Amino acid sequence: MVTFLQKVKQLFLLTIIFTCIILSIIFIHKNPLNLSILNLAKFTKNTDSKYPSSFVWKLTAYPENISYCNFNYGLPEKLTFNESDLSFSPESEKPGKYRVLYDVIRNKHTPEVPEVTYATHVTADFTSYVAEIARVWEGPISVAAFTPQTDLILTLNIINQLCYCLPEMTRVSLHLIFPEENVPRENLVIAKPKNCLVPNSEKLETIRSSNRSVKYPINVCRNVARVASSTKYVLVSGKVKI
Ligand SMILES: *[C@@H]1O[C@H](CO)[C@@H](O)[C@H](O)[C@H]1NC(C)=O
Ligand SMILES: *[C@@H]1O[C@H](CO)[C@@H](O)[C@H](O)[C@H]1NC(C)=O
Ligand SMILES: *[C@@H]1O[C@H](CO)[C@@H](O)[C@H](O)[C@H]1NC(C)=O
Repeated sequence: MVTFLQKVKQLFLLTIIFTCIILSIIFIHKNPLNLSILNLAKFTKNTDSKYPSSFVWKLTAYPENISYCNFNYGLPEKLTFNESDLSFSPESEKPGKYRVLYDVIRNKHTPEVPEVTYATHVTADFTSYVAEIARVWEGPISVAAFTPQTDLILTLNIINQLCYCLPEMTRVSLHLIFPEENVPRENLVIAKPKNCLVPNSEKLETIRSSNRSVKYPINVCRNVARVASSTKYVLVSGKVKI
């Protein structure tokens, strides 16, 4: 037999459980984590699980219409430069094969930024990693990008998008490296990004994926990133793809 006391106890427990459920529903409905159903739909649709820089889509800085990067040479609209703006590679072994355009983006130095630069280098398909580095590294970041032929526009498009969306890009410097036969001779127009949905750069078709005879000058890239660092201390590293 269920006593009266047990019945009261059961009723009390049920009340508590229902109250919890109702409170949870109210809590979720009020959306304390700022997740809208629309955003979640976007997330599942436009990001296949998780890839480098996929976190950037959540940022809402873009509507402010400002770039966090200090661009040079007419960017972010149009890349224009003179022959005299180009440098030879700091690599002494094989002079003459590559040309460097330093400080296409120059990082903004502020006193609170630690005085250690992370020097790294990328190909177009690794450009998304710049966002991940900027997220975890608190000091300046010097990026040397190897940009033969059409890889240049692929790289600049992603970097430009990151510059509109990710405040940490203020600490990034970018240097471009061209094979001497691929130095762009015409002004390159860069489209303004429409949103912060950064594509997965690993899926980009780079020149090197179709033409294996285009060599990745890893030492040139590493040295460019290192010598272009603006601090006394430099940590040289990089995602290497050969
Ligand atoms: C946004 O930027 C474009 C150039 O990129 C400019 O023409 C436009 O006036 C800007 N809009 C606002 C609201 O600042
Ligand atoms: C080209 O060089 C000249 C002289 O060095 C300079 O005045 C001019 O602004 C440069 N043009 C560009 C597009 O950088
Ligand atoms: C591949 O790259 C090499 C070196 O840049 C170049 O000489 C060659 O013409 C390229 N081949 C094709 C099919 O584009």
